[in-house]
Amino acid sequence: MTHYHSHDVLVIGSGAAGLTLALQLADSARIAVISKGELNAGSTYWAQGGIAAVLHDGDTVDAHVADTLAAGAQLCHEDSVRFTVKNSSDSIKWLLSQGVQFSRYEQSSDAFHLTREGGHSQRRIIHAADATGREVSETLTNRAKENPNIEIFTRHVAVDLIIAQHRCHGAYVLNRDSGHVELFHAKAIVLATGGANKAYLYTSNPDGASGDGIAMAWRAGCRVANMEFNQFHPTCLYHPKAKSFLITEAIRGEGGRLISATGERFMFRYDERGELAPRDVVARAIDHEMKRLGSDCVYLDISHKSPDFLLEHFPTIKARCLELGIDISREAIPVVPAAHYTCGGVMVDQCGQTDIPGLYAIGETSFTGLHGANRLASNSLLECFVYGTSAAADIRKRLAELPSPRIALPWDESQVTDSDEDVVISHNWDELRRFMWDYVGIVRTNKRLQRALNRAALLQQEIDEYYSNYKVSNDLLELRNLAMVAELIIRSALQRTESRGLHYTLDYPEQSETAEDTILIPDNFHKHRHT
Ligand code: FAD
Ligand code: SIN
Repeated sequence: MTHYHSHDVLVIGSGAAGLTLALQLADSARIAVISKGELNAGSTYWAQGGIAAVLHDGDTVDAHVADTLAAGAQLCHEDSVRFTVKNSSDSIKWLLSQGVQFSRYEQSSDAFHLTREGGHSQRRIIHAADATGREVSETLTNRAKENPNIEIFTRHVAVDLIIAQHRCHGAYVLNRDSGHVELFHAKAIVLATGGANKAYLYTSNPDGASGDGIAMAWRAGCRVANMEFNQFHPTCLYHPKAKSFLITEAIRGEGGRLISATGERFMFRYDERGELAPRDVVARAIDHEMKRLGSDCVYLDISHKSPDFLLEHFPTIKARCLELGIDISREAIPVVPAAHYTCGGVMVDQCGQTDIPGLYAIGETSFTGLHGANRLASNSLLECFVYGTSAAADIRKRLAELPSPRIALPWDESQVTDSDEDVVISHNWDELRRFMWDYVGIVRTNKRLQRALNRAALLQQEIDEYYSNYKVSNDLLELRNLAMVAELIIRSALQRTESRGLHYTLDYPEQSETAEDTILIPDNFHKHRHT
C-alpha cells in the first residue's frame, strides 16, 4: 500500500540550506525535511574553513563584493553578490541566535577570530576551529529535532518531482528501510540537495553528493546554468587510507607553503599572490607541477608554526594526520587537488524560485549567479544561509494563496523485479567517475570532452534500461542522477569556447572579452514557465 504524506512545505535535504529554511519557516508552516542518509550526511557537516562575512570595522561590503567578483572571473552576477554579502552579518547573527559557537581570539573575549583564505583581501572568515561545518550542522540539527512543526524523515531518497498543471506538487520518495516509494505532497517544494562532486573519481565530498536535485529539476523542466565550472579544491590529503579528507585553505591563510616533490616553493612562479591566489589558479599550478615532475602529490607545509598554534586552529586536521602517521608540526602534508564544489546548478531568482511554480532550489544545488566562474572560498555556506532565509520569506508570504497540491498516482512497481546484477551499477559508477576525472578535469580539450560525452550517452542508455526493469535503490538513483549531471557538465564545457575561471581548455586558452553564462534549456522547459 502506498504511503501518502502531506505538509505545507517539503524540504529535500538537511544541510545548511535545507535546515536554515526549515527553521526559519517553522513558525508559520508544517514542514517535512527528508534526507537520503542521516541528518548530517551532506557536505555541510564536513566544512572546515568557515563562513565569509563582513564582520569587522576594517572590512566593507564593497571589499567582499570586489573579492568575490575578482575570483569569479567577471562572470558573477553583481546583484546576487551584493545581496549575499549585504546579508552576511545578519546570517551570522542568526546562527549565533541558534546557538552556534564560533572561535574567539581568547576564550573570554567578545571578538571572534577571523581567518583568511585564498582570494580574500581581508581576514573575514568566521569559523569554529577547523570544524565549522560540524558545529553548524549539529546546532541546526538539534534545533530542528526539537521543533514540533518540523517532521524529519531520514533514509528517504527523493526519486523525482511530481509535476502537474505547470506546478510542482511534491515528490516520489524511496523509503530505504521499507524499499517502497512513497508520495510526499506539499504546497512548496524545496531542493536543498547539495552538489554533484561524486561525478569525479577524487573528491572532498561525502558519499551522496550525486547532484540529485539538479538532475530532478532538469528532468522536470528547469533550466540549469554554468555546470562546466566544477571547483577543484587544491589540497585534499593524499594517503592510501584517507578517503575524501580536506586540508583546509585556512592552513594557507595562516602561512602554509606549497612545496613540490623536489622541495621547491613553487606558487610564486604562477601568481604574485602565491599560496593565497584563488583556488582555480592554485589547483592548476599543482596539477601542472605534478605532471611536470611526474609526482603523485605536492606538499603543504605549516610546520614552522608552533605546536600550540596548530592545536588551537587545526585540531581536527592535526589529529587525523597523526592517525595516519603524519605529524604536521614536524613535516609537510602530502596533498592533491580533488573535486570540491559545483558552481553551476538549477537557475533561481533572489528568492530561490526555479522555473517551475512551487519549486525552489537553495544551497549548492542552485545557481544564483554568486560564484561566477570560480567560487570564492567560504562563500558557499554563506549562500546557503542567505538564500535559505530569502526563500523562507518568500514561501511565508505566499503560503496562504498557494493552491493545495494535486494528489498524484502512486508509484507503479508492477512491471519491475529485484535486480540480480548489482555489479552493473558499481561498474558503471566506477567508469563514469574515472572518465570524468580523466577527460573533464582541471585541464580539458574538445577531443576529450567529446569522448566523455559519447561515454556518458552510452552509460545513460544502459542505466535507463536498468531503471525500467528493476526496483529502484539508492545506488541506482545516484548513478542515474550522476550520469545525467555528467552529461550536463560535459555539454556546458563543450559550449564554452574560451578559458575562464575553473574551465580551462587547451583548445581555447584565452579568456573572451565578453562574459556569458552557459544556460542549458530542457526540451520540456516551455511547459512550465512562470506566467
Ligand atoms: P549539503 O550540506 O551537501 O546537504 C545535502 C542534503 O541533501 C543532505 O542532507 C543529503 O542527504 C540530502 N539529499 C541529497 N540528495 C537527496 C535526495 N535525492 N533525497 C533526499 N535527500 C537528499 N563551504 C564554505 O563556505 N566554507 C567551508 O569551510 C567549506 N568547507 C568545505 C569542506 C568540505 C570537506 C566540503 C565537502 C565542502 C566544504 N564547503 C565549504 C562547501 C559547503 O560545505 C557546501 O557547499 C554546503 O555545505 C552545501 O550545503 P547544502 O545545504 O547545499 O548541501
Ligand atoms: C576550506 O576549508 O578550505 C574549504 C573552504 C570552502 O570550500 O569554502
